Amino acid sequence: MIAADLAEPDDFEAWRTNARRLIASGTPPEMVAWSDGGGTADLFADTVTPPAAPAPPREVRASRVFMDLARTAVLHSAPERLDLLYRLLWRLQDRPRLLDDAADPDVGALRRMAMQVRRDIHKMHAFVRFRSVTDEDGVERYVAWFEPDHHIERATADFFVNRFASQRWSILTPRLSLHWDGMALLEGPPGSREDAPGEDAVEDLWVSYYRSIFNPARLKVGMMVKEMPRRYWKNLPEAREIADLIAGAHKREASMIATGASLFDDAAPASLEAIAGGIAQCRRCTIGCNGTRAVMGEGASDARLMIVGEQPGDTEELENRPFVGPAGQILDSAMGEAGIDRSAAYVTNAVKHFKFAPRGKIRLHQNPTAGEIDMCRWWLDGERALVKPKVILALGASSARGLMGRTPSIGRERGQALTQGDGTVIWLTAHPSYLLRLDGEAREREHTRFAQDLAGLAQILR
Ligand code: URA
Repeated sequence: MIAADLAEPDDFEAWRTNARRLIASGTPPEMVAWSDGGGTADLFADTVTPPAAPAPPREVRASRVFMDLARTAVLHSAPERLDLLYRLLWRLQDRPRLLDDAADPDVGALRRMAMQVRRDIHKMHAFVRFRSVTDEDGVERYVAWFEPDHHIERATADFFVNRFASQRWSILTPRLSLHWDGMALLEGPPGSREDAPGEDAVEDLWVSYYRSIFNPARLKVGMMVKEMPRRYWKNLPEAREIADLIAGAHKREASMIATGASLFDDAAPASLEAIAGGIAQCRRCTIGCNGTRAVMGEGASDARLMIVGEQPGDTEELENRPFVGPAGQILDSAMGEAGIDRSAAYVTNAVKHFKFAPRGKIRLHQNPTAGEIDMCRWWLDGERALVKPKVILALGASSARGLMGRTPSIGRERGQALTQGDGTVIWLTAHPSYLLRLDGEAREREHTRFAQDLAGLAQILR
């Protein structure tokens, strides 16, 4: 027997180097005892590294599909995954199309493992809950406890670094801990649940948000438990609300129908800072789970004019400010022409995260769905309640939906005062990025209409 050891269970490069050498030297799977640093190696195996390849070495063939699946499946916690991966690589040398054979038990096991790992990564993205602590130097830090099923801690680190780049945080798990100090990611020893703090202020906000988006008319307990499995509930502040919400669902639904009102008006966030903290952690919809950072509104916190776009774009997400990319330039120049001072306004978006489809190195904007806009509405309502603008400029249909709860026809309702129940005026126009997509005459025409709408807005502001 030949022992092939990975110093760490998620060390795909070590598996690949060992596997290449073993294949090149013609070592069959039954002659290899794999271990992953957890002391699971065959005690009677020769503790030698795989032999050097004979000259000329056997050529090693592996498709990109196999390598991608292997890179994911190696993170699975089952010790037998290493044998499985090597056995498949061995068999692929003579059967390059083996992965197309859906009935093959090894192929099935590989795909299942990769799927279970991917699901675990998704759950970690969605269910890590940070709590804030202040260390001895008075520096704020966010700490979370999480127990993944598989060896995914390092594989998820980039997600949290990108998402919370400007904050200091630690994620403690039973296998290792990850610490981000704003500059570098460090690894530490395993943590325990007791090392992570209990409740904090963000928690109350989170619970309020959860109550607000819980729609009793759409209650499907089975689906809810599938999406948010019970084993994660103990770390989720909002989970302690679930039993209560389910128990009261029918009563609340009846009341909702009778009054037509929002049921949890009293749960609004207390400050814009609280909203910024809340959206940074929000993963209630798939956009929130995509690894981008939430972009908070900016500007005068008592502005008479609020400007609401659809969602941050690529530039906005990178710069962490709304409307600073190409659409923002169109908006700024049209506002300048209309004599409206952007610096006196509060500028924000209906959806706080950037929704995109990756195309090579480019992130292509995608429209948020009505459901995603509705999920995010609670945060926008919070900004509205705190800033208390007299007039709101709604840029495009998504923005209007976030503000009014319905998707209007821009053509029919633009450029007129849409007075709301609380006396606020919503002034609707096209989204500036719509102008960016047009050419020639159509672009000229729409520019003129956009400028007219802003001139009308300037008039009502006066
Ligand atoms: N488009 C938007 O709707 N908002 C931004 O912040 C940028 C582009």
